[in-house]
Parts: sequence; C-alpha cells; structure tokens
Amino acid sequence: MARLATPPGLQHAYTDALPASQALADRARKLFPDAVTHDNRRMDPFPLYVDRADGAYKWDVDGHRYVDYWMGHGALLLGHNPPAVRDAVREQALRGTHYGACHVKEVEWGEWVCRLVPSAERLRFTASGTEATHLALRLARAATGKRHVVKFAGHFHGWHEGLEIGVREPYAAEPQAGQLREVVDLVTVLPPNDIAAVRERLAAGDVAAVILEPTGGHFGVVPAPPAFVAALREETRRAGALLIFDEVVTGFRVAPGGAQDKLGVRPDLTTLAKIVAGGLPGGAVAGRADVLAYLATKADPQENRRTKIAHPGTFNANPLSAAAGVAMLSAVADGQAIRFANEQAAKLRHGFNEILARERVAWKIYGEHSDWKVFFGADTPPRDGADQSVAGIDWRRLDAKHGDQSRTLRQALVLQGVDFNGGRALVGTCHTDDVIGETLTAFAAAVRAMKDEGLA
Ligand SMILES: Cc1ncc(COP(=O)(O)O)c(C=O)c1O
Repeated sequence: MARLATPPGLQHAYTDALPASQALADRARKLFPDAVTHDNRRMDPFPLYVDRADGAYKWDVDGHRYVDYWMGHGALLLGHNPPAVRDAVREQALRGTHYGACHVKEVEWGEWVCRLVPSAERLRFTASGTEATHLALRLARAATGKRHVVKFAGHFHGWHEGLEIGVREPYAAEPQAGQLREVVDLVTVLPPNDIAAVRERLAAGDVAAVILEPTGGHFGVVPAPPAFVAALREETRRAGALLIFDEVVTGFRVAPGGAQDKLGVRPDLTTLAKIVAGGLPGGAVAGRADVLAYLATKADPQENRRTKIAHPGTFNANPLSAAAGVAMLSAVADGQAIRFANEQAAKLRHGFNEILARERVAWKIYGEHSDWKVFFGADTPPRDGADQSVAGIDWRRLDAKHGDQSRTLRQALVLQGVDFNGGRALVGTCHTDDVIGETLTAFAAAVRAMKDEGLA
C-alpha cells in the first residue's frame, strides 16, 4: 500500500493504520525507557517500526511505503543503500568485520578525511559523534592547560555530560538528572551569534575552547551568520582558546570539506560523524597536528603522564565503517552529489512555501543546504514559494519546539506516505523530481488535514 486515506481524527487514523508498529511498541515498552533507543524517535501514541529501506523510501512493518526525510539522522547523503557503499560493506563483511588490528581501509579512510577537510592535519577515528566532541574537549584542555568551555544555546554536540548543556529551553547551564554541577559549571552557554558576549567571556583568559555547529544550532535552525563564525576565529586566536567546529552534520554535506570549506574559516579542531562513516557507526576528531599530538605516546614516562590522552575504543575505525566511509567520501569528493541534494532541497522548500501561501497557513519552510525546516511560529503565511527568509526573527522563536503542531504534522505526513522528524528534514541525492512531486502532493494533503483539525 503506497498511501493511506486521511479520515478525520489524525490520531485515530494513525493508530488504525499501524497495528504491527503498535504491537512492537507494546513489546518495546517492556524493554526500553520511553519504548525507544534514541530520544528523538519517541512518538505519541507510538513510533513507526521500519522493516527495510532503499533509495528515498522506507517500508514499515505494516507494509506502507514512505518517502524518508530522516536520512539516517543525517548520515545518508546518497539515500538508503547507495550501490557503491552497499557493495563496499558487503565485500568488507566477507573479509572480516573486526581484525583487532590496524588495516588498509583505516589508512585510506584517514587519507580521504585529510584530503577533503581543509584543517585536518591529523585525526583519530571514534565510534560516534558524541565520542568525537568528548575527545575534542579533552584535547583542547590538554593543549591549552585551561578548564572552561564556551558553547551556544541550542547547539547540540552529543549526549555526554560535558556538552549536553543549554541545548533546549530554558537553555540554562544547569545540571540535569545525573549530571555533575562541577562539570556543568565549566561550560558557559552564550546566546547564539553574539560576538560581544563571546569577547567578554574570553577576556577572563580561562577558556580552553569555543565549540559550535558552524552553520548554526541543529544544522541552522538558528542560522549562524558567516561573519560571526569568522569573528569567532579571530577572537579565539587572540584569547589563546581553540576553535572547535562540530561538523558532525555539516561535514561532507554543505561542501566536500564541510562548513569550513564553504566559509573559508579554519578551526583548530573538527568533529565528524554521520556521513564520514557512510551510514555506519563512526566519527572522528581532526585538526592541528600539534593538538592531535596529545594522543601520541611520548618516550619519557613522566612526559607521557602529562601529555598523553588515552584513547582506546573497540570499534574505532572498524573495517565495516572504514569501508563505508571510503566509499562515501570518494562519492562526495567532487561536490556534485552535494550540489544536487542542495538543488532538490531548494525545490522542496519552494514548493512547500507555495502550498502554505495557497492554503494561508502561517508557517515558513526554510533552510540553506540539503535540508528543510518548519518554522511553525511565523506571523503570516509566506507570500509565495520564494518567501523563505527567517532573517531578523529572534533566535528563541526560531528554536521553539511547537510540540503539538510538529507531532501532528508528522502524523499527517506519515498517513500520506512521507516521514520526517516533525521539525527538520534532511535531503539526499535520492530525492529526485518524481519523489519531490510525491512529497509536495502529500504535504498539501497533510496541511489540509491539519486545517481540518484546527492545527494549521
Ligand atoms: C552537531 C552534532 N554533534 C554531535 C552529534 C552526536 O553524534 P552521535 O549521535 O553520532 O553521537 C550530533 C548528533 O546528531 C550532532 O547533530
């Protein structure tokens, strides 16, 4: 079945349509807190359970097909199962999945990262983006001898306790359950894009690093102006603090060498994950050779104790992720896939805003790269498809979650054969013109269904 009817009462329609997902959710509730294994997959009344995926599509356990705009939480730029990556993984699996040893693919993979990412002189692979930002902080503290870290409200850097701070309202640097105040107190959360606040905080001279998502928090939900990022480079250099670009999402997505490539700004350290590992688990910290040297063993034992950061990790640069990563990076290196995904995303944003203009719905769809985001808090409907700018809108309004509308739009789209996370979507080369046409038809129907429910 490709598409479901949308009777009144989206909640009921959703529940009625997905009995096999509901049954799995009932089992999962007895296993996992919130019945999920990733906070963002939580969904009321229960999440979709997916059986398989290919290209732009995924199929749920009830047999429905969806156009997928999760794209593996951003890990997929070429859609599901791109032949080059799939074949590389299959071939590697036949040769062994873990050697407990150095191997050819990790060297090739590292060479690709250093070839593409302008600031990457040396690197270490990790098993995830969370591990990468954790390691980057260790490196920054070791290299500078300073303790404090600056981050920005609404920017996400993984779930470890050293940075899962100030990510959502009320954005305060306050400990959450199980988080140590001593750790949180070492992190200053500043409003995004406020260079005066950064300058003032750096003046104390105790900051080891400033970390940010270089196109803005949550891949540009609150866009970061390029001039702000360039100014950050100057201010951190002057203050003796390291600049860390968290390119876990932007890496190999906004340009072959990530946001730093596009912006022409060289951070001291870069954290990578998602696309870097070709859709398999993996991450990396890359950057200045003298900083990465804190991972190298020194001959003198005393020197070693002072200047060596321990970094084992069973799945660092595992052969499967390395094989997928090499295949992925070689496929994005010439920039064509990135350009195409950007163009397709622009068509989607234009089409969505045309629908909102026609239906007189006061949301706005925006984004700058291979993405689209829904701003539910717009004051007026877009004038036309081109009316996409969110410039001048207060960052708190842009970052606000609008839970009810977001959940209902997601359900309404699921019922029309499209899935996204409710607020933000990633686009890949798999989203061809036909897929875009299908998506726009689904979006128009979903918006009308929400209007019928009084939610748009
Ligand atoms: C910008 C950013 N940094 C870090 C992470 C954490 O990466 P991982 O989920 O691989 O731990 C994410 C994950 O979404 C992210 O978006």
